[in-house]
Amino acid sequence: MLLNIIPFVHLSLQEVIQAGDVVIDATAGNGHDTAFLARQVGTNGRVFAFDLQHEALANTHQLLCRQQLDTQVSLIHASHAEVAQYVSAGVRAAIFNCGYLPGADKKFTTTAASTLAALQSVLAIMLAGGRIGVVLYPGHEAGRIETKAVLDWAAQLSQQQVAVLRYGFINRVHQAPFALILEKLLWS
Ligand SMILES: C[S@@+](CC[C@H](N)C(=O)[O-])C[C@H]1O[C@@H](n2cnc3c(N)ncnc32)[C@H](O)[C@@H]1O
Repeated sequence: MLLNIIPFVHLSLQEVIQAGDVVIDATAGNGHDTAFLARQVGTNGRVFAFDLQHEALANTHQLLCRQQLDTQVSLIHASHAEVAQYVSAGVRAAIFNCGYLPGADKKFTTTAASTLAALQSVLAIMLAGGRIGVVLYPGHEAGRIETKAVLDWAAQLSQQQVAVLRYGFINRVHQAPFALILEKLLWS
């Protein structure tokens, strides 16, 4: 059976992450992606997980503690647009699971401006061979604008520097979410 969007993104990142790596979760939310990354990097690695909402970071902390993954994670209450203030180099992988937290305040949705600023910053501090997984949700208004902005930006990246893959189901109703995988190429 074909992999759904999030499992595909996880698998794509798992292929490049090694124990001890530095990785980023740009949108911690309820912590599922943070926990996945924490398992991959192990206790010698580090996950920097960002969210604007206290509630999201609290949920993430709880999940990490339950799974004994909290020691390798730094939870950061800030916009991912400020990532360069917290991480300076050597990033192997990052995940941007965009949009808003289901059931929470929709005003805390990711935006074209913050997502693009963060993607550019993360790409700049990423190791060659590293990957970024971006999950986009064009089914709501802010998501539609963000999706177009991210697609326009990604499409103009130099193919010598970054490989960009789009993964999604084209016969699903209601503007289904899809993923981009960006791989920073070895010679860039
Ligand atoms: C779809 S949820 C993330 C799901 C999450 N990765 C998980 O595994 O449960 C999107 C999250 O992005 C957060 N968010 C929105 N704008 C943000 C920003 N500029 N910086 C960091 N987090 C942001 C929201 O607060 C929300 O928790």
